[in-house]
Amino acid sequence: MNRLVLVLMAALPCVLFLGCGYFSASGEAPPAAGVETMPAAEVAAAQPEEAAAAVETKAAEPQLFEPGAFEDPEVCSTCHGKIYDDWSRSMHANAWQNQWYQPDFLLAHQETDGATDLLCGACHAPIAARTGLLPPADGSKFDATSRRGISCDFCHTVTGVEQMFNMGHVSEPGNVKTGPRGDGNSLYHEVKYTEIHTKADFCGSCHMVIHPATGVHIIDTWEDWKSNEYGKQNITCQDCHMTPTPGVSKTPGRAALMGKLRDNLAHHGFVGGSSYIQEALGNQEQAERSREFLRAAAELKLAEQVSADGTLELTVEVHNVGAGHKIPTGTTYIREIWLQVEVKDQAGKVVYSSGHVDDQNHVDPNAVVFRVLFKDAEGNLTPKSWRAHGIGYDRRIPAKGKDSETYRIPLPAKGEYQVTTRLMYRSFTQQSLDEVYQRTGKKLPPVASAEMAAAKTTVRF
Ligand code: HEC
Ligand code: HEC
Ligand code: HEC
Ligand code: HEC
Ligand code: HEC
Repeated sequence: MNRLVLVLMAALPCVLFLGCGYFSASGEAPPAAGVETMPAAEVAAAQPEEAAAAVETKAAEPQLFEPGAFEDPEVCSTCHGKIYDDWSRSMHANAWQNQWYQPDFLLAHQETDGATDLLCGACHAPIAARTGLLPPADGSKFDATSRRGISCDFCHTVTGVEQMFNMGHVSEPGNVKTGPRGDGNSLYHEVKYTEIHTKADFCGSCHMVIHPATGVHIIDTWEDWKSNEYGKQNITCQDCHMTPTPGVSKTPGRAALMGKLRDNLAHHGFVGGSSYIQEALGNQEQAERSREFLRAAAELKLAEQVSADGTLELTVEVHNVGAGHKIPTGTTYIREIWLQVEVKDQAGKVVYSSGHVDDQNHVDPNAVVFRVLFKDAEGNLTPKSWRAHGIGYDRRIPAKGKDSETYRIPLPAKGEYQVTTRLMYRSFTQQSLDEVYQRTGKKLPPVASAEMAAAKTTVRF
């Protein structure tokens, strides 16, 4: 086996257990930060060898590859222009630089005394992490290639996946570009077929985050997919997310200048729920695609009944019809999906409302919310992944499944009423953006809501 691969594999436990190293080595929380302390004995009992190894390896962090070992995406753009354009608008291209990621990363850094730098960086800035340019956490050592997040040459020099969480990709940077075909002719590089690029495991190794010290599953997209109907039928992440539109579709095209005409060309926009970010970055088309994905994921169904005393019993069913995983998925502790219910009388006056957005752009605190929150060492709910000691709240809609909520609404008088229900999505809570402003003075654009689904009905009392 290639020497670099061996070096890399030896380093994986180090990246993975850096958190343990920190927790067990210091044994107490850094003064002002207030992160929970995990007793050294408890960590050692859970992971005796790894924890010890992490303490040792932390001192001598191996430099895995030379800086510059991975090529810059600009090089690829010469021949792969269309793929480059689509990728440059993806969240992968923005995984490090984006101004919504940075405040969370820096807060984690501060509260753990830097123990999370390489954990987060392994996925959000994989080239920097694998060429020794991270830490420092401020990115001051990054070269231009590292700043472009998860780029072409990171994904296309992967030769295998050794571990299905916290980024277990095996890299072999060099002239051989790995991918799903292996039959193309390029004057610039060699091509090699790798089955892993066609499998969900390729994505899953990053879309599956486990807290190194407490074992809490922070992001569970891959294991969720693996165990549901989509996983069983092997409808992969690529099938849905490497297409420009929701659902499984085929778009013919050429992957490169002088490339062969293919019946389906992998789309590199990796569209997901980030319409708000895409809009703020000025990528209108990607933002619209994102809204289409959100609308394709869910449907609402209503059942209503008015009792003799004028109580409307309204049941709202939320169906996950289009996502290959729960909704929400991913950083569900940062996202917010909620129900809006509004009842108006014949004059158009609102007689009941739930889930509305107030003039501070905050969602009604009594809204029915679909998301995850962690509990910290003291049992308090928190969206801070590095403090997760367990799951404190988890309400999500499973793939091809449903959830429902019944509202009991007193109707004020005899007459006809219009009932409107909407399922809404936000990439962040407004409170979290307010906190970023208070902490750093950085004002992020007010978060925008996207409608995933809606349903209306008329009732009479
Ligand atoms: C997050 C990882 C990732 C990134 C970043 C990425 N790719 Fe890909 N790429 C893939 C995967 C996975 C496939 C195979 C998809 C499939 O066929 O199911 C692929 C397919 C391809 C193909 C073959 C397309 C075809 O259908 O014949 C080319 C060429 C390619 N990528 C080039 C690039 C270039 C150039 C960039 C940067 C501008 C890039 N990729 C960025 C993961 C990535
Ligand atoms: C001089 C032009 C040129 C440059 C520069 C170039 N490529 Fe390619 N590449 C091609 C051609 C041509 C093909 C074959 C496409 C086909 O026929 O489908 C190809 C194919 C690929 C494939 C498909 C592999 C497979 O068979 O599945 C990948 C992945 C890829 N290139 C990645 C890259 C990356 C990453 C870079 C930048 C570091 C890059 N290329 C730079 C011309 C180029
Ligand atoms: C090296 C780790 C890595 C790999 C490999 C990877 N991803 Fe990602 N992915 C990320 C990170 C990190 C983000 C979040 C970036 C951000 O928002 O800052 C992300 C975001 C996304 C999003 C959300 C986009 C949005 O608009 O909300 C989608 C969809 C996605 N990835 C799909 C895929 C698919 C499909 C694959 C496999 C072909 C894949 N990813 C492979 C790390 C990875
Ligand atoms: C059947 C199609 C389908 C499959 C299969 C699928 N997804 Fe998705 N995915 C969607 C749709 C539709 C959305 C938009 C709804 C949403 O954001 O929850 C989405 C959203 C996402 C998001 C954004 C979540 C957010 O709101 O921040 C990520 C990340 C993601 N998918 C990753 C993956 C990964 C990784 C896999 C494979 C393990 C996968 N998806 C498989 C359809 C699919
Ligand atoms: C194993 C890979 C992995 C690790 C480790 C990881 N992340 Fe992520 N991160 C992701 C993926 C995948 C997404 C996209 C999920 C989605 O779109 O919902 C993401 C999304 C995010 C987002 C949302 C960004 C946006 O643009 O919407 C933030 C913030 C974030 N991560 C912070 C962190 C921090 C802080 C750490 C370290 C404590 C960390 N991540 C560690 C894979 C990872």
